[in-house]
Amino acid sequence: MKRITVTTLQKMKEAGEKIVMSTCYDASFATILEENGVEAMLVGDSLGMVFQGLESTLPVELDQMIYHTQCVARGRQRALLITDMPFMSYSTPELAMATAGRILKEGGAHMVKLEGGSTQLDTVARLTDHGIPVCAHLGLLPQSVHKTGGYKVQGRDAAGAAAIRDDALALQKAGAQMLVLECVPAALAGEISASLRIPVIGIGAGNGCDGQVQVLYDMLGITRGKLPSFSRNFLAEAASIEEAVASYSAAVKSGAFPDAERSFQ
Ligand code: KIV
Repeated sequence: MKRITVTTLQKMKEAGEKIVMSTCYDASFATILEENGVEAMLVGDSLGMVFQGLESTLPVELDQMIYHTQCVARGRQRALLITDMPFMSYSTPELAMATAGRILKEGGAHMVKLEGGSTQLDTVARLTDHGIPVCAHLGLLPQSVHKTGGYKVQGRDAAGAAAIRDDALALQKAGAQMLVLECVPAALAGEISASLRIPVIGIGAGNGCDGQVQVLYDMLGITRGKLPSFSRNFLAEAASIEEAVASYSAAVKSGAFPDAERSFQ
């Protein structure tokens, strides 16, 4: 069983092979995801909303992220494990070093994810200089929901698109080894994916990205309330959770997911 590393994902991008990623919060699902084609798992702070029942990701604590990372780490053997740094746990490069250090040492993650562009460049450089791989996150930033006034598609106007484009390049230059683009028009996401060297993983960003990530509970249709318009309930047409995950993986690999209906123009 060959382990998937950031180098594996980089080579997949270079070979034009789509990357399958999902959020994951516990050991049992980690095993099921991995056995059914998921190559990278994100312990997302979305766990605050889908697991803890919170209204946003903001109250999620670092200790909770570490706990869930430990659970996922016990269930996976092969997939790359990425963990979100929670709100206000990386507001200075020094704080980010301490946070990321705990996530890797205590949690067992291989990479940390942070939200934001130009304000995070020093932090990304500091972490990567110390051997900590960073996945950046642009577009809709759930930790900035109070600033943006809701969960809205980003980069629809020329200025917004230019800012995301510039931030993506600057983050790559600062050392980020992966980028998540959330809720941006498909054409913009496709253009950014083609222009970056590092893998770009989309969520609500069309199928021109190098891979896709979904919130696991959305993908299985078990999130309460309205599912995001860009997600698909793969369990609805499957006989089991395993079959649903395998169907998601196959749809990402073939480029069939997301279709135009689940993308923004
Ligand atoms: O927290 C999370 O699950 C995420 C994904 C939406 C990418 O950041």
